[in-house]
Amino acid sequence: MTSIKTIGLLTSGGDAPGMNAAIRAVTRSAIYNGFKVKGIYRGYKGLVDDEIVDFKTQNVSNIIHHGGTILKTARCKEFKTIEGRQQAYENIKKHCIDALVVIGGDGSLSGARQFAREFDFPIVGLPGTIDNDLAGTDHTIGYDTALNTIMWCVDRIRDTASSHERLFFIEVMGRDSGFLALNGAIATGAEAAIIPEISTEQDQLAELIQRGFRKSKNSSIVLVAESPVTGGAMGLAERVRNEYPQYDVRVTILGHLQRGGTPTAQDRILASRMGAAAIDALLEGQRNVMIGDDDEKIVYVPFSKAIHNEKHIDRDLLETLRRLSI
Ligand code: ADP
Ligand code: F6P
Repeated sequence: MTSIKTIGLLTSGGDAPGMNAAIRAVTRSAIYNGFKVKGIYRGYKGLVDDEIVDFKTQNVSNIIHHGGTILKTARCKEFKTIEGRQQAYENIKKHCIDALVVIGGDGSLSGARQFAREFDFPIVGLPGTIDNDLAGTDHTIGYDTALNTIMWCVDRIRDTASSHERLFFIEVMGRDSGFLALNGAIATGAEAAIIPEISTEQDQLAELIQRGFRKSKNSSIVLVAESPVTGGAMGLAERVRNEYPQYDVRVTILGHLQRGGTPTAQDRILASRMGAAAIDALLEGQRNVMIGDDDEKIVYVPFSKAIHNEKHIDRDLLETLRRLSI
């Protein structure tokens, strides 16, 4: 038995395709189990500014196939202060909210953890970020769609790269993690991925050139994870122009293209399963956990494990990419 009657729901930080499917799943599953739902607009900002409305099943009709988030999202400086979080708590009490479901990335779940500890308040998190950088879950909501978008874009760049016999550096998102770059490179048959996880271990660009990666090919594609550690696509292109002027180099930065679009079936299913699991978790008395997927099974991951933890890149994937790019 739970004493929870009303659940507040918000999306926070960078949006990710599949967040709407998660909003739908949390709302419907909560109502199915007899809870009331309050939709909180613009993430923690809406909690601080009191942008909180009743959510019924109709509020989440016809949204499963849309990218973005109908609840909107934001970054909120006030929530990083105790005064801001106190104001958020006042609004939570005003709306009789007994538990929160927070859909977001590493930052949003860090905020959730802080708030839950300070006010002894039950929160369940859903991993919503294209970066796939939360530990304890194989996949985050939005990652698969972003990966497919990257694949679609790189396939097109390949046509022009090959016609002009050029070396392309294509920069992808990921904040400080290389999941999108590495798996994007494998999916597109790229020559290499330059990722932050191994940037301090080796000069990935020099290694690539030494491999003679372009000898038998008329064009080359390298996916670069955005990060000061990798130098980014611009930084690497500049290095090639200075150090290896024989290459005709170009740069494409995919940017926010990667955050939009219709979620893939995989993301919709993941978001639906995780959204329903968030309500199960609250029913079971769980608090301050993120819902994760581990080998297709739903797991509860303590916030402390999910956030700020380096999620390790599978080194076998790097080796696979190397082997297949000869
Ligand atoms: P993401 O969730 O996509 O990683 P951000 O890192 O921008 O996005 O974080 C989203 C929001 O979460 C921030 O704008 C802030 O309101 C809140 N937040 C992040 N870290 C903390 C923290 N340590 N304490 C309180 N709130 C935080
Ligand atoms: O965390 C998600 C993400 O898309 C990162 O990959 C990227 O570095 C960042 O958000 C971009 O954030 P903004 O919305 O501020 O452009």
